[in-house]
Amino acid sequence: MNFYEGLNKLKPHRILNKFIQDYPNIKTAIDLGCGAGRDTEFLLAKGINVTAIDRVDVTKFLYQGLNDEEKERLNFIQAQFSKVKLPKVDLTISYEALPFCDMETLKSVINKVGESLNENGFFLCNFFGKHDSWVGNNKITFLDKKEIENLLKDFKILELREIERDGETAMHQIKHWHVFWVIAQKA
Ligand SMILES: C[S@@+](CC[C@H](N)C(=O)[O-])C[C@H]1O[C@@H](n2cnc3c(N)ncnc32)[C@H](O)[C@@H]1O
Repeated sequence: MNFYEGLNKLKPHRILNKFIQDYPNIKTAIDLGCGAGRDTEFLLAKGINVTAIDRVDVTKFLYQGLNDEEKERLNFIQAQFSKVKLPKVDLTISYEALPFCDMETLKSVINKVGESLNENGFFLCNFFGKHDSWVGNNKITFLDKKEIENLLKDFKILELREIERDGETAMHQIKHWHVFWVIAQKA
């Protein structure tokens, strides 16, 4: 099983599921770092038009299992976060993807997300904390609460939840996850 086949089997993020129940009027969304598309598929099933972005050509996984009408409402862009032009949307999500950016890229991508959101639009994302098992990997950025609040200073932070737990990766390895889960709104 490769990495994307592993991701493909995962359910949409629970925090996103709950958010869509609370805010059923979202019409357009971006999935930044969509991977195999577990959240993209969920948003499409909720009737939302989705722009899914990833630097890897994930179309094989992304389009699998979608009906023709859902495929029509999906726009996949293969691009780096730093280069991609973002459309105007009601919601941007980014799960397990932003930590793979360095600090400078993070600042500019988050700024770009803010500019692309419609008035009162939402930004749901997560970041890895400094107790995570992957600390030491210099391709990953680990942040504390203050650093996250600072990165999101131009947004209204509605929720910033810190969760630590032992659990599986997409490749079924057990690790310690230290993750900050954010729900923010364009200020
Ligand atoms: C760990 S996967 C998570 C996928 C999906 N969000 C999920 O939760 O299942 C991270 C994805 O982000 C993409 N990614 C990471 N950094 C990126 C960047 N700078 N530009 C574009 N894509 C990026 C990777 O290619 C990968 O598909």
